Amino acid sequence: MTIHAFISRSAGVLLAAAMLVLAGCKPEASGPPRTDVIVVGAGMAGLAAAIEAAAGGARVTVLDSNSVGGGHAILASGFSLVGTPLQERMGYRDDVETAVADILAWGEDADPWWVRRYVEASRPEVHDWLVARGVQFAMILPNPEDSVPRFHLPRGAAAGAVLPVLREALANERISFIWNHEVSGLLHDASGVSGIRARDLRGGGELELHAAAVILASGGFESNDRLVREHWPAARAVPDPLYVGAGHFATGGGLQLASDAGAALVRMDRQLVYVTGMPDPRDAAGRRGLLVLNPAAIMVDGSGRRFIDEAGASKDIEALVLSRSPATYWLVFDEPARAQLMIRGGPWLDAGTIEREIMADPALVSRGGDIRALALAAGLPADGLAATVARYNRFVREGEDADFRRFGGATAGRLPPLLDTPPFYAIQLFPMTRKSMGGVAIDHQTRVLDAAGQPIRGLYAAGEVTGIAGINGSHGGSGTFLGPSLLQGRMAGQAAAAMLAPGRGVVTPLATALRTPATVPPDDPALLDGRLAADEPGFWHFRQVHRMVVQRELACGDCHRAAWPPGPARTREQQLLQFEACTRCH
Ligand SMILES: Cc1cc2nc3c(=O)[nH]c(=O)nc-3n(C[C@H](O)[C@H](O)[C@H](O)COP(=O)(O)OP(=O)(O)OC[C@H]3O[C@@H](n4cnc5c(N)ncnc54)[C@H](O)[C@@H]3O)c2cc1C
Ligand code: HEC
Ligand code: HEC
Repeated sequence: MTIHAFISRSAGVLLAAAMLVLAGCKPEASGPPRTDVIVVGAGMAGLAAAIEAAAGGARVTVLDSNSVGGGHAILASGFSLVGTPLQERMGYRDDVETAVADILAWGEDADPWWVRRYVEASRPEVHDWLVARGVQFAMILPNPEDSVPRFHLPRGAAAGAVLPVLREALANERISFIWNHEVSGLLHDASGVSGIRARDLRGGGELELHAAAVILASGGFESNDRLVREHWPAARAVPDPLYVGAGHFATGGGLQLASDAGAALVRMDRQLVYVTGMPDPRDAAGRRGLLVLNPAAIMVDGSGRRFIDEAGASKDIEALVLSRSPATYWLVFDEPARAQLMIRGGPWLDAGTIEREIMADPALVSRGGDIRALALAAGLPADGLAATVARYNRFVREGEDADFRRFGGATAGRLPPLLDTPPFYAIQLFPMTRKSMGGVAIDHQTRVLDAAGQPIRGLYAAGEVTGIAGINGSHGGSGTFLGPSLLQGRMAGQAAAAMLAPGRGVVTPLATALRTPATVPPDDPALLDGRLAADEPGFWHFRQVHRMVVQRELACGDCHRAAWPPGPARTREQQLLQFEACTRCH
């Protein structure tokens, strides 16, 4: 069956045709009737690309599988930035050469051109661009890979940086969004790429869109178990279990689209896998992980022994744990150190929920009145663990860790507290996928390259779908994903708009079949039940939101308004109203 036959079969087409007629007389209500640049993905890279392409005069259509924008940045923390006013105020003297050297040393085989391009751009093209949009950088955290502290946290974490960008894009008349649509193919022939095909996740129809340029900004592949395993580094076994710590839509679909159109994939085995994962008790499928840290804890293996400097570089801990079989260890800490326990992975993880759903669950957290009882609860050898804790406490009293140099001797840093106040806790941790450091090959202008290294006309890529163009080498640093994704998005948007020299743009009708689901009357939580229970495709984020609404017993009117009653946000005005709810959770 041809694409056209398929599309004309789909229920959306009649509606699309009707929309086109409508578009002729009421372009405001149904979005712009044509598009020049298509952006796949509304994360940091895609939003920056859309804003730049629109600024360059293009009409832009952004498609996303999710029903809302922001992508991974919604879950992330901060940016690696060099030479900022905040660094200056804090007395951190940073410069381009120092930062380039740090990033190259940490990544080991990073792409030097992109490292330098990003470091030079991070102040003028990333920091200043965000600040101009109202983003405030509140704090800088030191990290072992940075010889000068440069990991910048915005107010409201990375969501506080991406939400203003999303708002600007939503308000921009030149940018249209098509949510709940998964781009399933690129329209291409020997002369290049001329559009996309997308599947409506709610209605099930398909649509086809033509444009002069397509920018792929669809993110990484770390939630796709098949791709993760297929591209696992050859020298190592895939750990079991291996939890997922990336977003729901990090499926790597963009990689397939690009390679079908002839793109080369590079560095695919560079995957940043954390070894700080705990099974997420809310995931019935048992696949998802939460991130767990406790800087005051010791780490012990299955024999109850310490095996590494717990305060050492994360990449060393990752390499060692991933090389072991089984790839697992336990964080052991006492009651005072419980205050330093951090569990991250979703807006539902407030202190009360952590207490009820995690700390009180003996399958996740073992507890004991003394070390032997703890060992028994955790399934660790009691003599081994008791000897380890006694030895560690002796080192703390003596001021020197004779085994792993965590403290004392030439090691700077504070002495950790004794591990001696009951009750004692142990949490077993596992590897968890997180970020892709390989993907679609691009050149220095973000043009997608084929296997011969030639650009594919009309196709650009930015952000994690490119593996951030190798800027992280083999070891992801802190904050070196978000900023470069933004920079590459801006570059791709500018390059795509520049392609549209007058008369060269392919202006085609926008054939979109926007479904209009029935509106639920206000303040009737009962009406939510059916949709919350059903696993309907295209309603993933809706379920995430309204499960929390039910759990927190919020009234519909806390977020919905007269101009956006409980129901989908169809108009631009409604999308902007919906936008105001985001910071209730993120
Ligand atoms: C929990 C977590 C914390 C992180 N913390 C940090 C941090 O502190 N600092 C840092 O620098 N980096 C961090 N990262 C990494 C960083 O957030 C990402 O690398 C970055 O946000 C990637 O942006 P992007 O726009 O390229 O992709 P994404 O943000 O992944 O956006 C891609 C978008 O494309 C959509 N999409 C995917 N496939 C399709 C398709 N076929 N059709 C339509 N739409 C599609 C997705 O729904 C998504 O909205 C973190 C990542 C995670 C998972
Ligand atoms: C905390 C804010 C908040 C509250 C409270 C809230 N909602 Fe929503 N609602 C949202 C957001 C955000 C969306 C968009 C979600 C999405 O599409 O991902 C939404 C979307 C919807 C939709 C549209 C689903 C679709 O078809 O796209 C319906 C229906 C809805 N809400 C019903 C309700 C009802 C009924 C209540 C009261 C019981 C309620 N909401 C309470 C934030 C809220
Ligand atoms: C009532 C709470 C709530 C509100 C309001 C809300 N969200 Fe969410 N959102 C969630 C939850 C819960 C998740 C799932 C996070 C997880 O556990 O993985 C989520 C996930 C997301 C993700 C996916 C992150 C990823 O990559 O997996 C995005 C993007 C997102 N939200 C954006 C928004 C935007 C934009 C708004 C405002 C329009 C919004 N959210 C409003 C609760 C909320």
